Order: sequence, then C-alpha cells, then structure tokens
Amino acid sequence: MKKGIILAGGSGSRLYPATLPACKQLLPVFDKPMIYYGFSVLMLAGIRHVLIISTPADLPRFRQLLGDGGNLGMRLDYAEQAAPRGLAEAFLIGAPFIDGDPVALILGDNIFFGHGLSGRLQAQAGRNDGATVFAYGVKDPARYGVVELDPAGRPVSLVEKPANPRSNLAVTGLYFYDSQVVDIARSVRPSARGELEITDVNNTYLARGALRVERLPRGYAWLDAGTEQSLLEAANFIAAIERRQSLRIGCIEEVAWRQGWIDSAQLRRLAKTMGSSGYGQYLQELADGAAL
Ligand code: DAU
Repeated sequence: MKKGIILAGGSGSRLYPATLPACKQLLPVFDKPMIYYGFSVLMLAGIRHVLIISTPADLPRFRQLLGDGGNLGMRLDYAEQAAPRGLAEAFLIGAPFIDGDPVALILGDNIFFGHGLSGRLQAQAGRNDGATVFAYGVKDPARYGVVELDPAGRPVSLVEKPANPRSNLAVTGLYFYDSQVVDIARSVRPSARGELEITDVNNTYLARGALRVERLPRGYAWLDAGTEQSLLEAANFIAAIERRQSLRIGCIEEVAWRQGWIDSAQLRRLAKTMGSSGYGQYLQELADGAAL
C-alpha cells in the first residue's frame, strides 16, 4: 500500500474557542501540531503519497505547514471537505487520488504510540485484500465504534456509539482498505446523525467476511485529543515520554530520515528552518549522530 489519507476537518466546536482561529488538528500537542502524530503513523507504515482532507478555511493552513511533501521525500495532495458529512466521505472526495489502489485512512486527531507499531503497520500496508481496523480496550466504549470479537478474535458485530456496548473494544481512527472501499463508500447512506459513517463501511467488509481486527495490546497508547481534557492529557503523555527518553514522538522529519527518504544533509536543512527551538536542535543532533 502506497497511499494514505489524513482526514483533518470537522467543526471543532467541542473545543471552542481554542479552535476558532484554526482547526483542532493544527493545535499543538506539546511540541508539534496534532496532525504530525497521525501523519507520522502513515509514514511509519511506509506510505509516501498522502492526501490531506480538511475544511475550505483550514486547507490553506495545512498546505502552508506541509507543502508538497518534497522536503520529506514524499508527495502530498490536498482536497476540501465542504462540510463535515462523515468520515466515509473521505473516500468519495479521495476517489481520484485513490484511483483503484488500496488506501489507509487516519483521523488527524488520533495519536498512537507503542513498541512494534511500525511492524504492525507495515504488515497491514503490505496486504491488499479486505480491510483491517485496530481495536483498543477503553473505559468508555460508548463514545466510539465498538467491535465484538469471538473467542478466535474474529469480529462478530460492529456498532457506532452503542448505548449498551457489547465489549470494551473501541475501533481506533486508523483503517486499511483494499480498492473496493470507494464503491462501498458510494453505497453508504447518511446515518441518523446525518453522517456517512465509517462504521457502515466497516460493516460491509464484515458482512463479506473481509474485515480483520487487530487488537492493540495494553502496552500501546491510543489517545484522541477531542476534548479539552484529553488534549491536555495527550500533551502531558507526550511530554513525559519525550523528556524521559530524549526522543521525540511523531517527529515527521526524523521518520523521513530513518526511512531513508531524506539524507542527513536534508535533515540538517530542515533543522535550520526550525529556528532556535528544541525541536530544531533535536533534528540537528540526529543529523550529527548525537541523538539516540
Ligand atoms: O476516534 C475513533 C472514532 O472516530 C471511531 O471509534 C468511530 O467509529 C468513528 O465514527 C469516529 O468517531 P468520532 O465520534 O470521534 O467522530 P468525529 O465525528 O468526532 O470525527 C472524528 C474526527 O474526524 C474529528 O477530528 C473531526 C474529523 N471529521 C469528522 C467528520 C464527521 C472530519 O474531518 N470530517 C467529518 O465529516
């Protein structure tokens, strides 16, 4: 799989007034814009061609932040979502980009962290049959899409924000699909809340016996920074690990360099664009071989 989509739109109204000047996915989570985390997850999966979807007001800001991706040895495209009509609309908007290929989707407010994540991602990115979602045990499953598994780990049911969840397993905002996803998304009708639900797309794969569910074990962190409280908690989590290890999480320049998409000279050039920030210094140290 060579292509990925980041969905970074929505109204952001749950975080007003913080999201009045710019959307949630541009807000910092500790030392970098929120979108860097999801973006770096696609990069770790080996995906170099990415479509960023956001609102008409915010899309120019993303373009300004990330450009055409050439700096990272990548290719970035941009597309507008005129109104927040649901996650599955990403595949309708993204149809010309997907162009018959398999594709990964990540929500721009999801943060993943844990040992062995790259390997898990690359394993999924290497397939092009059916769909894969990731399940993560949470205290409040009713806020999410919830998946129920049989004893063999196969999905039995999938329900969006159930009043009575049948398990504590939330479906995270990271999805891998084969090329059927565009046609499936075209057949989805708006839900009671007026949205094209990703859960309906996943249920179609489930009905076809083509949905895989990978459980992220407890050693992983999955955070969504959708409320003022979870935004602060995510920032504190990132800060604690980064300070302890002197490594940065979700550092897109570092991932591009470790993937071999850019060389040390380019990493040094990128470091120079970061002024006197600690982030810039970190990039410089990586390029000099001083960091771990
Ligand atoms: O975070 C995982 C959850 O994401 C899944 O468990 C659910 O199955 C899935 O429906 C979704 O639930 P949410 O309630 O979190 O979706 P929300 O409407 O909050 O949108 C998620 C992000 O996507 C949010 O940052 C805004 C953005 N978004 C949302 C919609 C509806 C868009 O960019 N465009 C949209 O049309």
